[in-house]
Order: sequence, then C-alpha cells, then structure tokens
Amino acid sequence: MGMISASDGVFRLATRTTSYWFRVTKYGHLEHLWYGSRLPDDQDPSVVALKNVVQRGSSIAYREDDLTYSLDALELEWSGAGVGDYRHSPVEVVLPNGARTTDFTYVSHEIVDGVMNPAGLPGAHLRSSAPSSQDSSDHGVQTLIVTLYDTVTYLQLLLYYTVFPEVDCITRRSVLANEGAASVRIDSIASLSMDIPNHHFRLLTLNGSWIKEAHLEDAPLRVGLTLNSSTTGASSNRHNPGFVLAAAHSTETSGQAYGFNLVYSGNHCSMVERTPDEQVRIVTGINPAGFEWSLGPGESFETPEAVMTYAPNGIGAVSRNFHSFVNDHIVPRSWARRDRPIVYNNWESTFFNFNAGKLLTLAKQAKSLGAELFVLDDGWFGTRDCDHAGLGDYSINQRKFPSGLPAFAEQIRRIGLGFGVWVEPEMVNEDSDLYRAHPDWAVMTPGRTPSQGRHQLILDLTRDDVRDYIVENVGKVIDSTKAAYVKWDFNRHHSDVYSAHLANQGEFAHRYTLGLYDVLTRIFSPRPEVLLESCSSGGNRFDLGMLTHSPQVWASDDTDPIERLSIQGGLSLLYPQSTFGAHISDAPHQQTLRDTPLTTRFNVSAFGCFGLEMDVRMLSVVEKREIRDEVEFYRQHRATFQYGDFYRGDREAAAKGNKVQWTVVNLDGSQAITGLFQTLTQAAQGVDILAVDGLEPTVKYVFRTREQSLFISRFGGLVKHLIPVTLNPSGTVLRTANKVYAMHDSVEKYEVYGVALAEGIPLSPQFLGTGYDQCVRMLGDFGSQLYVITRM
Ligand code: DGJ
Repeated sequence: MGMISASDGVFRLATRTTSYWFRVTKYGHLEHLWYGSRLPDDQDPSVVALKNVVQRGSSIAYREDDLTYSLDALELEWSGAGVGDYRHSPVEVVLPNGARTTDFTYVSHEIVDGVMNPAGLPGAHLRSSAPSSQDSSDHGVQTLIVTLYDTVTYLQLLLYYTVFPEVDCITRRSVLANEGAASVRIDSIASLSMDIPNHHFRLLTLNGSWIKEAHLEDAPLRVGLTLNSSTTGASSNRHNPGFVLAAAHSTETSGQAYGFNLVYSGNHCSMVERTPDEQVRIVTGINPAGFEWSLGPGESFETPEAVMTYAPNGIGAVSRNFHSFVNDHIVPRSWARRDRPIVYNNWESTFFNFNAGKLLTLAKQAKSLGAELFVLDDGWFGTRDCDHAGLGDYSINQRKFPSGLPAFAEQIRRIGLGFGVWVEPEMVNEDSDLYRAHPDWAVMTPGRTPSQGRHQLILDLTRDDVRDYIVENVGKVIDSTKAAYVKWDFNRHHSDVYSAHLANQGEFAHRYTLGLYDVLTRIFSPRPEVLLESCSSGGNRFDLGMLTHSPQVWASDDTDPIERLSIQGGLSLLYPQSTFGAHISDAPHQQTLRDTPLTTRFNVSAFGCFGLEMDVRMLSVVEKREIRDEVEFYRQHRATFQYGDFYRGDREAAAKGNKVQWTVVNLDGSQAITGLFQTLTQAAQGVDILAVDGLEPTVKYVFRTREQSLFISRFGGLVKHLIPVTLNPSGTVLRTANKVYAMHDSVEKYEVYGVALAEGIPLSPQFLGTGYDQCVRMLGDFGSQLYVITRM
C-alpha cells in the first residue's frame, strides 16, 4: 500500500514516523484532523478531530439550519474569504464586480507516484532520476492532488501534497485556475494553510542583517497574528522564510516540534495566527505586500512549494529531518551528498586590489596548505577596480589579466587547483558598457532617480532580452575558463521596482524571481558538474529555492568564528552543514576587530563547507603547519562534517551560557566529532561536563581531542611563569619563537561507553591561573576544541 490513502472522505498521508490526516466535511470543506506521530489506520478519525457539538456564541453559521457548523470553529486545510472564518485567509481574489468572497469545496482527488513540481518554480525532486528508483530515499514518495471549486467565482483550486516518507517531510502547494469568462485579480495566494491546536507553542525564527544573519529568536507565540516576512525582493537576511513551532517545554532532544519552510527566493510571508480559543493557523507563501496578479480566463497561478515536518522528540529532530530533505531532495542531484571541495577565495585577502601575478602567488600558497580549488572573486572584469564600475560587463580587465581569463584559469589548474569564478549577473553599474548600451535594462520607476545600493542597479529579469544576455555571457565565462565552480552574488535589495514590459506592476517581484530561476536553470542544467555557490552579501538569499540550483550558499560575509557560532548555529535549524560556505580568515576579523585563535576559526568552519580566505602569504611557519593539519583532518572527516547527523548541544556545558556545542555523527554511527566552543571566559568556572547526543549507549568509544596548536603569543608576558628567564612579550625572541614553535593544547584521551557520554563526562579543568600542563584546557576567550569519538 502507498503512503497516501483516501477512503470514506478521509485522507491519510504517512511518512516513516508521522501521520497527516484530513477529511471532507458534509459541506465539502477540508477539515484538518491530525499532524503528529504515526497513527494506526484504524484510529477513528472523529476522535482526533475538534468536537464542535454546540454552537459558539457570536459565530457565523455556514447554514441557517445547522448552527454548529461554523468555518471559524473548524480546523481547516484551506479557507476561502468572507464566509464566517475570521482567521487570516490564504487567498484573496477580487472579481470583476469587486466581490471578494470565495468558498472552495471538494470535487475530486488523485494520487500519483513521485513528485509533481510547479511550472517555472523549483521544487523538491526524487533522489534518483531513474523511473523505478532503487534509492531508499525515494521509497514511497507520492503526491495527492485535491481539486476544490468555488461555484460562484468559477475558480478552481488544486491542493498538492507530496509525502517524502524516508525523511519525514511533506510538501504542499496550491494552484488557482480561472475557469470563468473574465479576468480576476489575485491579491494573495498562499502555498500552504493549516490549522492545528496550540501546544503552548514557541515560535523559532531566524532574523538578522548583513554580517549578522540567521540569529535565532525563540519566543512564546502570542495571541493574534505574527508575521515572518521579507519585502527586499529576496528571501532576505532579515527574516529567513523557514521557522519552527515548538511546544512550550520542548528541548533539542524532547517534546513536540513542527518545522516549515518555503522553496522560494523572493518576497515571502508566513503568518502564524494564534486565536483566543487556542487554534493556530499557519499560512505561508509569496508575500502579498506589493503583490497583485491578473489571472485571465483559462489561466492558472502556481504557488511555490512549502515543506513541513514534525517530530515528537525535539527541535533537533525537526532540524535533522529538514537536513535530510535538503540533502536528498532539494540540492541538485549531481551534487547530492557529494564531497564539496576545499576552496581558497581571494576576496578577504585582496578585495579589488590584485593582478594575475599576486593571485598566482596566493594560489600556490593555498595549494601548499591543501586547498583544492581557487575562487577568483569580484574585480576581474570590465573596469572594476572598485565597486562603482563594471557590473554588467563580462570583458576581461586587461590591466589585471593581460593574457585573458582562460589563460589564467589554465595557470591555476597547472598549480593543481580547480578554477572557480565570481559573477553578479543580476546587477549593473551606471559606469559600465552594458548600462551605456541599454539604460532601459536597469530597474527604475519612471520620473524618479533610482535609489542605489552598493552603487548598483538591478537588471530587469522579467525581460526576455535581459535574461538571454545573462545566460549567454555567464555561459561563455564558464565554458571559456572551464570553471568547475561559480560564485553567484547578489549585493543589493530591490527598490524602485517597475518594468515597462509589464501590464501589472504588482507582478514585478514574483516575475523577477521566476526570471532568476529561468536563468539559473538555463545556465546550470546543461552544466551539472559545475558547483554553484550562491551568495547575497553573505546569507541574504539563503533559502530552499536557491538551494535547488546551488548546493551551497556563502553563509555570511562575517568570518569571525564567534559570530559564525550564531550564524551557522541558527541556519542549522533549517539547513544542513553541506549548504554553509564557511572559510577561515585573518584575525583580528574584518567585521568585528575580534582576535580569535586560528584553531577556533577552523573548528567552527569545519562544521560546513570549509575553505580558506586569508592572506596566506602572511602566515608564520607554525600557522602554516596548523592549517595543513586542519585541512588534512577535514579531508579525513569531510563526509561526517558535511553530511553527518547534526546535534546542537543544549545541556551541560552549553547550559553554562558561555559555551556552544555542536556534534556530527557519521551515517553508520561509527564516529562522531563534537566541538565545544567558549565565547567569553570566566574565572574558576568549575568543572565542564561534556554530554554528547547521537551515540549508541551500549557501544564503547575512544574519545580523544583533535591535536591542535597552542600559540605562544596567547600567553604574552605570562610566558615568564613557564620558563626560567623573563622575556619581553613584544621582543624579538618571543616573536620569533611564536612563529616557529607551538605547544600542545588540551590533550585528553579516554575509552568510554556511549551511555556515559550521553549523560556527560567531566573534562579536564580549564586554565586556572595556576600553571600550564598539556592536559589543562587553555580556552580563555574564544577558545575551542574538537573531540573525535570513534567506536572501538
Ligand atoms: C559580497 C560577498 O558576500 C563577498 O564574499 C564578496 O564576494 C563580495 N560581495 C564581492 O563584491
């Protein structure tokens, strides 16, 4: 039997561990029954439904002769507008006569095997492209399509549900079709609407801004409407489209939690409405703000796909469901669960100030440290020597690359590195050949001087000729340089939106997003081996839509590891480590002035797609040695870091408030790596207990620290307490010693059962001011350690 069944008007959708049930009511509405742990099929559905046996005061009855049937009192799968349901409606349509009332009721349904993606929009895919897939992740994937109809407006509504049993996720989307004779105006149409009882929910969202993306906010769900939305033209660094509803007492490892996300990169909006009688409606989709769509007779409108998951055992389980969903069903098949290269990117070390010679020196150094691919960042084209000029042009900057870009790419390959290249195809500078030739291609409102962001304007991706230009030119760059990797940047928000080519300006933002998907598809589908890393001033467009094209995203322009604890930790709520571009850079950090140990920079970046971004010409002998060890360690454990099951530690050490703990467990459970990071130190903190999730209680493990260097400079003048002579901390002897010699940092090694690690073992003491020993944990401010835990 399939994972979706329909009998007696009840739809039962199942994943490996969850059930999602709804039914057709006596008047044809779809009543939500259950989203939770897997129910036996013979469970009486009425028992899990709301018991509406008496009329509620001041409610609107759907039928005068049936006073207990009020749409406002039902948990619904979808709701029209204006017929007595006062919660936020997932659809608002204006008819030619100005009427706005809609009421959709059941007509028919169909169940098909596999997925059905929305036209022109990205969607979740099967792991395998073969029709009879042997890939376990594809087992039981089915789609239910329910057809609803509004007999007065002649509007048909299709609701799509696809179950992904192995990863415990269900996707949903809606399609609105106009079967009438006149055009209607859509003011809003959601992908998903669902009502569930309030489990005293907290709402977990990811908010931020530039260099401060994806900071987790965890707040009680208030009564009324809470909005999580973006109006910047992209999914935005302000409010990521995904969120989690967690029952009041849920932790990382216990309690009920629901997760939601949207496969969309444009303006999004999710509304979570808690009613005074403790119903919760979740509506998610394209942001209605500034949106308006003219739907002519015979036309239909497709909404982006939304995804949801449920776990009874904590927020961490919701994250891991989403991680598997992204790794198996979102990122392009050609890169699914495939090792990501260790890149060296020149941006933070050079900005625009480089030429071929300087880059080749950096590339050689990077290669000697273990990098696998060189990324040529911004500044290689046109007259781009600063951010005022050149965007839109693809001609080589002759001064920097007299022999041209293909020749430079070849030189990089001769060094033994793959070649990757940066582009920002959606933008144009006024000082560019493109703008001089086609000023009308830039987005601006007639009669107004357009506002600029980073001195640039947006190209009008709703236009065919603009998209053709991008497809042709980016394609040429990739093919002529045989690039193995592309970094696709997008460095400003939308403003002054208008296109002379559109009859309805309310369609601009969505049509722009469709245009973006069109160019990405046309460029990268024929080149599946090219690894695309998308970027938007860091993580300003970190979403499932971009991930269907680009397996990884540059998570943030902030490479300070302490900030990255919040950024990568926040992103991990919804996205797997394989999607985070995470590089080590110079310290003090460009974004914060904070000085962090090299080891912590690595220990944080390792929980992502690790790379290097510093000026590698300036490294000391010991720093190079340390980086080589780090790269080698990452290479050995790359699959575990990128694809292992991820656990955020919320007990013991982390509960102290100045620590963060992340664990990855490899897929066969034979090895785990846990990172313990200290933000600000405290004097005499007492014992640190390390508890590790995801291990087998009865298995015995070898637990050991990753050997890492402790640099002498960390001690400054304190060195006099370790050696018989007093040395000037800024004098030549110590400065030279610091370049060539490093000490051992916190060595611990034990044999220990999983049960003890799960409940927590005491670590060696931290530095207490009473002396150094290689077993003492010398964390101080911003120190950290990785522990490798291997099954015996
Ligand atoms: C913003 C990106 O996030 C940086 O990594 C870099 O590529 C710059 N743009 C280049 O302009």
